[in-house]
Amino acid sequence: MKIIVTGAAGFIGSQLCSKLLVMGHQVLGIDNLCRGRLDYLLSCRANEGFQFVEVDLADPNQLHLALQAAQSIGQIDQLWHLAANSDIPAGVTSVKVDLRDTFLSTISSLELCEQLGCRKFLFASSSAIYGDLGTDPMMEHAGPLLPISNYGAMKLASEAAISAACEKYLDHAYFFRFPNVVGVPATHGVLLDFVRKLKQTPGILSVLGDGTQCKPYLHVCDLIDAMLFISATANDRRNIFNIGPDDEGVSVQSIAEMVVAEASPGSKIKYGSDNKGWIGDVPKFQYDISKLRRLGWVRRLSSHAALTRALREIIIQEASVL
Ligand SMILES: NC(=O)c1ccc[n+]([C@@H]2O[C@H](COP(=O)([O-])OP(=O)(O)OC[C@H]3O[C@@H](n4cnc5c(N)ncnc54)[C@H](O)[C@@H]3O)[C@@H](O)[C@H]2O)c1
Repeated sequence: MKIIVTGAAGFIGSQLCSKLLVMGHQVLGIDNLCRGRLDYLLSCRANEGFQFVEVDLADPNQLHLALQAAQSIGQIDQLWHLAANSDIPAGVTSVKVDLRDTFLSTISSLELCEQLGCRKFLFASSSAIYGDLGTDPMMEHAGPLLPISNYGAMKLASEAAISAACEKYLDHAYFFRFPNVVGVPATHGVLLDFVRKLKQTPGILSVLGDGTQCKPYLHVCDLIDAMLFISATANDRRNIFNIGPDDEGVSVQSIAEMVVAEASPGSKIKYGSDNKGWIGDVPKFQYDISKLRRLGWVRRLSSHAALTRALREIIIQEASVL
């Protein structure tokens, strides 16, 4: 197949491109490199089935560049839309960040599909669309959905726009609602944050929040496996799936202790006083993945195992950064 991946130079996008190429597909990667890096695509770029075009999807004046690149490949079968702002606190500081990179990038990606006659759209959504449900489980058909971050709000608005496009030019849309995803090349997230803090200030690890926050974590290998499984197995017009590890998650305190033990044994951990790390942080959630389990997907790594593996990968990644 011929496939477009937006956000291709990012953490998950670059891993997805590699996997799609290994499966024998032709891939056009799109990214504006605001957070992603061409280095992450080195192995993809060595594959003749891969092309890359640098385009800011939030800028309608640049869309023709993506269109031209796609038209040179031929009929596009699928568009995977992963480009977004991935820094939730940045979106709290300025509402424009998520408006541009999370929502307008979705509108542009939909426009690409319409103009290219591509009828299958796969979207990287998030548990952030549910807001803070306390101890109530986050289920695909929960509602009303009241996100507590601009990031979550613009992901939810994106889902709405994709749903509307299903009435006009999309045959199938996939809404993959991710939990926290870990692995390399890490561009953000708790593990990278802790490892970098310990590198900058050896001996002390300052934690945002009181450490009681507890969330599920999925390794990027499992995430990609789940998305490919869903896209091959579920065939409704609108396919909404929570993707997660199906466990209680891991507390921030445990993660801090794990990072100190691996990266800088003996360092002191300094906690904040609030149970949230930042405005828009959902401190604890129950992620219901029974729908995905019923479809037949089984994860390989628990939250704890995913964090352990990703931590080792990130320590190696950071050791090579000067
Ligand atoms: N990593 C997670 O834990 C997680 C959790 C839930 C959802 N997601 C979603 O998964 C997707 C991928 O996340 P990631 O962790 O790989 O983040 P990432 O920041 O590494 O990747 C996002 C990519 O999008 C690109 N991008 C941003 N704005 C763009 C624009 N206007 N035009 C073109 N490219 C643009 C960035 O340069 C970056 O390469 C995102 O949509 C994110 O919201 C990630």
